Amino acid sequence: MSERADKIKEYHKKYNLQSWSKQKDINPIPIEKAEGIYMWDFDGNRYTDMSSQLVNLNVGHGCRPIIDAIKEQTEKYCYLGPSYGAEPRGELAKMIIDLMPDNMGKVFFTNGGADANENVVKIARMYTGRQKIFSRYRSYHGSTYGAGNLTGEPRRYPLEPGAPGFIKFFDPYVYREKIKFESEEEASEYYVGKLREQIIYEGPDSIAAIVMETITGSNGVIIPPKGYLPGVRKLCDEFGIMMICDEVMAGWGRTGKMFAFENFDVKPDIVSFAKGVTCGYVQLGGVVVSKKIAEFFDDHLLSCGLTYSGHPLACAAGVACVNYYKDADILTNVNKSGAVLGEILEDLKAKHKSVGDVRYIGLFSAIELVKDKATKEPLVEYGKDPEGIMGKIIGMLKAKKFMCYSHENMILISPPLIITPEQVKEEMVKVDEVLDEVDKMI
Ligand SMILES: Cc1ncc(COP(=O)(O)O)c(C=O)c1O
Repeated sequence: MSERADKIKEYHKKYNLQSWSKQKDINPIPIEKAEGIYMWDFDGNRYTDMSSQLVNLNVGHGCRPIIDAIKEQTEKYCYLGPSYGAEPRGELAKMIIDLMPDNMGKVFFTNGGADANENVVKIARMYTGRQKIFSRYRSYHGSTYGAGNLTGEPRRYPLEPGAPGFIKFFDPYVYREKIKFESEEEASEYYVGKLREQIIYEGPDSIAAIVMETITGSNGVIIPPKGYLPGVRKLCDEFGIMMICDEVMAGWGRTGKMFAFENFDVKPDIVSFAKGVTCGYVQLGGVVVSKKIAEFFDDHLLSCGLTYSGHPLACAAGVACVNYYKDADILTNVNKSGAVLGEILEDLKAKHKSVGDVRYIGLFSAIELVKDKATKEPLVEYGKDPEGIMGKIIGMLKAKKFMCYSHENMILISPPLIITPEQVKEEMVKVDEVLDEVDKMI
């Protein structure tokens, strides 16, 4: 390794606190350059990004139109406060509203996904005058205080006992359900029925919102059964509850539609987004609210604010990014490459005894590892992996320069949306080889 690479690694380890890590275990790969779905270290080794970094780098590295748009904007002005008219701010908001269902009205920009979710909570509470917020156990909504309280999985634990009024319910995880359903519709009826019961017991008039990742992402690409989201929509309408879809990870083309809720024929009241709106070229997030909610704030104070709300550089990147999605016909590519990925995943499930389930939609996928296909006993217990088995599996993939991450007993694969079907085939051979090794471990 070069001196520069050594220094990058040394400083990272010595001075950076790295997220979600025991600091003594961190081992960053110094990256010299990156292009498309690939990254190179200082020794010329090529790594394939099969997770789009943190499921945000949808367009891959080096997307020229976004780079040029940022450069152009820096020459005009880099920053204007939220109350000034900044061209890219209004332009991007209009583009987002144009992509949304016809009930949606306005956008409030944030810096990322967590603060988008902080603000969905505030907006739903201000609009409804109610306090309680429902969200699901198998979910991640960000690590700030409010978003962390929305989060249901173990990353919420450091915030506990947490803020009052955050209620959790179980999501429709059909693969691990003890009840055997005849159809997706029957499963939906069951889960929506349980949710209705919980709403009644909590007091419907006290509930401001139900917040859901439209498709649960980092907790295992859990795709709701047919009829589930329309069922939740009906409950929200019945009780005057805001239906909030967190599209931070599933939005912006990831599932083969521009927004994941389009797969289920529902119109939410509020949507949070981030990640793919700029693909991280500059960080940006936001909240989209319905026309009704937007009108409410004509005469009521919108008590939300951020110094960098609608940052001009981020919005310029966003305008270029959304235009790129259209110009590159990204959805067609997601569906084409996603179909190949899906076929390969099904083959892996049929071939490997350690693969209990595969779930995929577009280029959003998870491989669920088990000790026993029949009992579905997970390869590692929920919230526990004392021997670091999943870390070892991810390490085996990394040794093949296949970069992705795991959650619980699942390998998550979400490559950039520009990946070609040939690249999918080439990369997934490595997963097949690693699963051969996993099969021997059980
Ligand atoms: C569904 C979902 N919501 C919110 C967030 C938080 O976004 P950020 O990390 O930009 O704060 C994430 C991050 O992974 C996410 O997956």
